[in-house]
Amino acid sequence: MTNRLEGKGILVIGAASGIGAATVKRLANEGARVCAADIDIDGARRVAAAVGGGAFAVPIDISDETSVDAAFTMVSSSMPKLDGVHVNAADLRTIFQDTNALDVDLAVFDRTIAVNLRGHLICTRAAIPRLLASGGGAIVYTSSGACDMGEPERPAYAASKSGINALMRHVASRWGKDGITANCIAPGFVMTPEMIAGGQVPQEWTDSSLSQMRSPRVGSADDIAAVAAMLLSADGTWINGQVLHINGGALLR
Ligand SMILES: NC(=O)c1ccc[n+]([C@@H]2O[C@H](COP(=O)([O-])OP(=O)(O)OC[C@H]3O[C@@H](n4cnc5c(N)ncnc54)[C@H](O)[C@@H]3O)[C@@H](O)[C@H]2O)c1
Repeated sequence: MTNRLEGKGILVIGAASGIGAATVKRLANEGARVCAADIDIDGARRVAAAVGGGAFAVPIDISDETSVDAAFTMVSSSMPKLDGVHVNAADLRTIFQDTNALDVDLAVFDRTIAVNLRGHLICTRAAIPRLLASGGGAIVYTSSGACDMGEPERPAYAASKSGINALMRHVASRWGKDGITANCIAPGFVMTPEMIAGGQVPQEWTDSSLSQMRSPRVGSADDIAAVAAMLLSADGTWINGQVLHINGGALLR
């Protein structure tokens, strides 16, 4: 493991589990001081405590502007220089009710957009002035392969992730010359430690996802964390405005 993030302060939002938790660990292992933010503050605290290295946790609900502002204020008071933000949170509780355009409950659609897209805009508004004050920095968003797959289900989720891609391209275009990079990671099927422990992912999902991949295994949270770390490091400074599909070759573009 390198020390390429030594001296950097990075905020990971949606950090209590899965991809976000793996990213906190990876960033800390590469030398960053990391803040783990999540609506699940107990989970975020456990993640921060497990990585050590000055990592700390703050509560955040990205659907609520007041909560986001409070979280960023807390981050600024403990971490005077913010160099990177990974906006990774998504409300995945409604995904099984995200049926199709004809019968999806509008409350499911609205909640999905409120967290997965509007929430990312709110976080972006809080992040940009702080990154500019640091002389520039990186924003990484977690999108999804669902944005480009054209699936017969999950229309709200796919729309929210396509919206994040558009938001990211706007941020790169508006603030790129000021030293801000903005990129999306679009993961394919990733088995997080929580999904494995929960045992609720039907085997046929795994088999069907694997059959679409050129690589011989499904993704892990660490696979995505490795790409986030690269984008948040000096190695990523000339990558801007991109959607990086990380999926074991499930979707060739
Ligand atoms: N696991 C996959 O196969 C996969 C594939 C493509 C994209 N993604 C994306 O990766 C990201 C992480 O997913 P994951 O699989 O690790 O799931 P996860 O549920 O483990 O992580 C999501 C985190 O977001 C937090 N969160 C939910 N609502 C929030 C809110 N309002 N404010 C703040 N935090 C909130 C949750 O508490 C949780 O810690 C998500 O954006 C998801 O859409 C995952």
